[in-house]
Amino acid sequence: MTDTASQADTAREVPDGEQPFTALPERNLDKRELRTLVDGLAARPELWRGQVAFSDTERHYASLYRDEFVDVWLLCWTRQNDTGWHDHDLSSGAVRVVQGVLTESNPRIGGEHLATAVGAGSSFCFGPDHIHRLTGATDDAVSVHAYSPPLWRLGQYDITEDGLMRRISVSYADELRPVDAPTAA
Ligand SMILES: [Fe+2]
Repeated sequence: MTDTASQADTAREVPDGEQPFTALPERNLDKRELRTLVDGLAARPELWRGQVAFSDTERHYASLYRDEFVDVWLLCWTRQNDTGWHDHDLSSGAVRVVQGVLTESNPRIGGEHLATAVGAGSSFCFGPDHIHRLTGATDDAVSVHAYSPPLWRLGQYDITEDGLMRRISVSYADELRPVDAPTAA
């Protein structure tokens, strides 16, 4: 995976106007470009504010954009919302928190998992090698996510109490939740 400055320099800011996605390059974006995209969308609340809604029983999400190179989502979180451990298969991604706080966790085999609080105004990006878990740390968290190439499959992980890990391939259309959670939870 390369993250060259020259590629990052070609990322375009989200422009003003009604068609913010028409300026995107017609190719897959790298993780830094995706971060520029979600950071720009944070400054355009008129594009996503109307989609904000919360549910303890199912994570609320809305598609903001999708083409052959990138997809962009709005996600809303309470402290009951938990993706479980997952990767994004072939996709790089970026997340910008625009309200409240999320916790991003990364699994550590044989040790304590890493947990990072990501508050409103902060963003992060990752490549296809990244495994994480996102949970709401407040009951009003809102985040903008972008993926390239667009999400199609994801890997979902179950880690047993004795540390055994298994990966299950799921469709992006399946709402991520912990593998061992009851389906009604
Ligand atoms: Fe993710």
